[in-house]
Amino acid sequence: MSERYRKTWYEINLDDLASNTHRLRLVHEARALIAVVKADAYGHGALKVVERLRQEGLTFFAVSLLEEALELRAKFKDITVLVMGVINPEDLPLLEQHDIVFTISDHAIFEAVKAYPGALRFHIKFDSGMNRLGFKHATDVKKVMDAFATLPHKQVEGLYSHLATSDGDDAFVAWQFERFKAVLDVLPHPPPVVHLSNTSAWLKHEATFNSFTHARIGIGLYGYTLEPVDYGLVPIGTLKTVVSQIKKLNTGEYLGYGITYQASEPTRIAVLPIGYADGWIRQHKGHDVLIKGRRYPIIGNICMDQLFVKIDDSIKLGEAVVLMGPGGLDANAIASHLHTINYEVLCSISSRVPRIYIEEAKP
Ligand SMILES: Cc1ncc(COP(=O)(O)O)c(C=O)c1O
Repeated sequence: MSERYRKTWYEINLDDLASNTHRLRLVHEARALIAVVKADAYGHGALKVVERLRQEGLTFFAVSLLEEALELRAKFKDITVLVMGVINPEDLPLLEQHDIVFTISDHAIFEAVKAYPGALRFHIKFDSGMNRLGFKHATDVKKVMDAFATLPHKQVEGLYSHLATSDGDDAFVAWQFERFKAVLDVLPHPPPVVHLSNTSAWLKHEATFNSFTHARIGIGLYGYTLEPVDYGLVPIGTLKTVVSQIKKLNTGEYLGYGITYQASEPTRIAVLPIGYADGWIRQHKGHDVLIKGRRYPIIGNICMDQLFVKIDDSIKLGEAVVLMGPGGLDANAIASHLHTINYEVLCSISSRVPRIYIEEAKP
């Protein structure tokens, strides 16, 4: 949205993004970060996030879709962009034209790359146990490596795999690690870039992985993990709005669609200009918002563009409201109310909510 008339916005602190990045880098200084900025940098705005990370010295970025890579390439000429998702053979010319690194994760794309006359750069994906994308056998990876070994215009730049349980089952992580390492063991010359860890694995397991050059870090950059440990990361996004109307319900009056709330006593209600079209879905009902540092509950059914909060006499029209942010209402707290994970909460703030960037300490 280019114009802003409604006072609802997602405030992103790029200085906190920079400090999270430095903190994460220090964990294993010898290895490099690939910043995962798919899904519009987990909802924070990929172009602004990449711009700041570029200033902080990062040069390697990963996305899921080719369209996400093209958006980055149009603005940034000097970065490496890896597409981790599935590529259609008919899009190989676009990858070549825009110098985008992609993933060979099955036989169909392998055959298409072999047959393609132009120059391409890619990583191979090994499926070490998650059963999502990638080759399941070390021999398949070797076959791909061998096919391109003597073709300088077909660059196998990397090899990677993804962990299914980096936030939980350590035995399964160890098993996937061993399977991935076994692939490296059968390759006479591994590609220059090899990566397995995401944020949780980087924090907990990377020290025991000794065969890799890079790690793909997403959620940690944005200030979150799935770990119960405080790693000193700071959530970079705060979702804000204001009290746009105040209503007084008399005893017995109803509120909102479906009249799911009935006042049992005279009740003050704040109407907030944010709803499920902004990603604040109806399941947020019963959870809180913060006004003047205090928690107030969301009541009644959430509408497409508005929601209701039960307030006291201290709250005035125009008062600032935090829906997600510091003060006990971060994405972890919201995820636990919604029975989901912080990733999903971050990605669900819709594009209708303007992103406003705070940045003081540019390098
Ligand atoms: C293949 C792949 N690598 C890396 C990541 C980054 O993971 P995290 O955000 O946990 O760091 C993701 C995220 O979903 C992913 O799908």
